[in-house]
Amino acid sequence: MKRSEINGLMREAVAFMREWRFALPPFAFWTPHDWRRKGPECAPIVERQLGWDITDFGSGEFLKRGLLLFTLRNGYGDGRRGLVYCEKIMVVREEQETPLHFHFLKTEDIIVRGGGRLKMQIWRATPAGKRSDRPVLLERDGRREEKAAGAVWTFEPGESICLPPYVYHRFWGEKGRGAVLVGEVSRVNDDRRDNRFYEPLGRFPTVEEDETPLHLLVGDYPRWYSAWGRRLRG
Ligand SMILES: [Fe+2]
Repeated sequence: MKRSEINGLMREAVAFMREWRFALPPFAFWTPHDWRRKGPECAPIVERQLGWDITDFGSGEFLKRGLLLFTLRNGYGDGRRGLVYCEKIMVVREEQETPLHFHFLKTEDIIVRGGGRLKMQIWRATPAGKRSDRPVLLERDGRREEKAAGAVWTFEPGESICLPPYVYHRFWGEKGRGAVLVGEVSRVNDDRRDNRFYEPLGRFPTVEEDETPLHLLVGDYPRWYSAWGRRLRG
């Protein structure tokens, strides 16, 4: 993805979140120049991979297959004590697909916080990672609901779904309803090990630097955060 496109998507996301009265934390607005001057006290942001995360899943067409996320908080370790949770906010556009995947360990609640309607197609996964044709029983705002394998579920603003591990899901915003502001509350998030995409694809984009970053993506921290570099070099 081009940096100019990423910068534009960040500007639009900030405006969209403001429209729905969702306020991002201060570090969302730091510039690369700000990051250069930050000390070791900011290491938790980097270690837990908090912040902007924009991906086209390697598609080259962000509006068709892509997702904008901001990780607000995230834990670490074995998830048994302490900071064992994660929270994200996402902007899902009309007919913009987040491709089919499940998580090995993470249970996640996907919550429509505002905007349009979210569509989600869901299957159970077999232990071998195939799509099961058995029915899917899930908890939807505290109420159990069962649908056929591969059925499309629809969520209005305020509604949510709880997705346990080994449940395949792909989602997009319903056409004609506008972009959707989506929250995620989950166990600790580990994008390196816990995602199983149905088709192999890239989780993080390669970035073509055609302008200066407006704000950093999580993948940009090693380049701009010199306190992190000092730490890495011991
Ligand atoms: Fe997921």
